[in-house]
Amino acid sequence: MRLTTPLLPVDVSPVVVATAYGGPEVLTVIDETAAEPGPGQARIDVRASGVNPIDYKAYSGSMGSDPARLPMRPGFEAAGVVTAVGPDAVGPAGPVEVGDEVIAYRVTGGYAAQLVAPVQALTPKPPSLGWPEASGLMLAGATAWHALAATNVGSGDTVLVHGASGGVGLMAVQLARSRGATVIGTASPARHDLLRDFGVIPVAYGTGLADQVRAAAPGPFDVALDLVGSDEAVDVSIELVADRNRIATIAAARRGLELGIKALGGGPGADPGTELRNAARPQLARLAGEGALLVLVSQTFPLAAAAAAHRAIMDGHTLGKIALIP
Ligand SMILES: NC(=O)c1ccc[n+]([C@@H]2O[C@H](COP(=O)([O-])OP(=O)(O)OC[C@H]3O[C@@H](n4cnc5c(N)ncnc54)[C@H](OP(=O)(O)O)[C@@H]3O)[C@@H](O)[C@H]2O)c1
Repeated sequence: MRLTTPLLPVDVSPVVVATAYGGPEVLTVIDETAAEPGPGQARIDVRASGVNPIDYKAYSGSMGSDPARLPMRPGFEAAGVVTAVGPDAVGPAGPVEVGDEVIAYRVTGGYAAQLVAPVQALTPKPPSLGWPEASGLMLAGATAWHALAATNVGSGDTVLVHGASGGVGLMAVQLARSRGATVIGTASPARHDLLRDFGVIPVAYGTGLADQVRAAAPGPFDVALDLVGSDEAVDVSIELVADRNRIATIAAARRGLELGIKALGGGPGADPGTELRNAARPQLARLAGEGALLVLVSQTFPLAAAAAAHRAIMDGHTLGKIALIP
């Protein structure tokens, strides 16, 4: 008798879940039947999912380890094609229809081949933007947008960006330049030529950073954005920028609050900037669609290799963005 492998039903598709708190080894791929979208929801055939440091931090235990939150579904952003809509599927850009190419942010469980998301989280994908790029635009872009708005970056400002070659960093330097600012960006020397291509004056982080920055640009320094969270980035920002209202951190909230600089994001006491970040979404899509904002995706991994993608981003030296492809 010939044995045959039973075929999976077509509506069963892979989803990445964290089954425990720990390192990337706790990530597992399960097969799940895609749900039907409810009121105000759409189902998306995901073409790429954006990878962010928060994705591994969430299940690492460093942000709490409540067992009730398991299994956890990582992935705050994805891009794909709408395959079904529930009743009242009207998003911020109008009615959502089957066949629409969309960017989904902010969502839960973006590491999946099929995703049911609130239509409020959907932004039309600009046709010129590739899937991996679309999946990496919103979280980093909205964070950078918030940081520039919170520090009121404008024409003629000189802005120091710590971590300029990372996901948020490359967004921040481009958006600051488009506001007419001069940008000095810290990165390891291997990234300096790339930063120059973005119109940034590069400086290597490490010992003597404040002097290196002074040597690279005349100053005065109007704004500093800490996109790294190191003591060095915070201390040098305080040393070089006189007005603490014009220094922001997205990764050292506790120190930021102690020092009276702007702490941005979801941490305790930080400014989440929810409205501002939501309002940034169509602007980010427009700029990316026009080619005025580049999303640099340096690495892609198959969805099933999410753990490898997390090991890569945990290294702390990602250039631009990482995307998962179902
Ligand atoms: N608060 C919020 O709302 C919010 C939102 C998004 C992200 N975040 C947090 O912000 C941080 C950055 O996020 P991301 O997505 O941009 O991460 P990322 O892409 O992983 O950032 C990696 C970048 O950091 C640079 N870097 C590493 N060590 C550095 C140092 N000591 N000094 C200067 N640069 C250094 C690396 O440069 P080299 O490769 O040249 O070393 C690399 O370009 C993460 O901690 C993330 O969790 C917070």
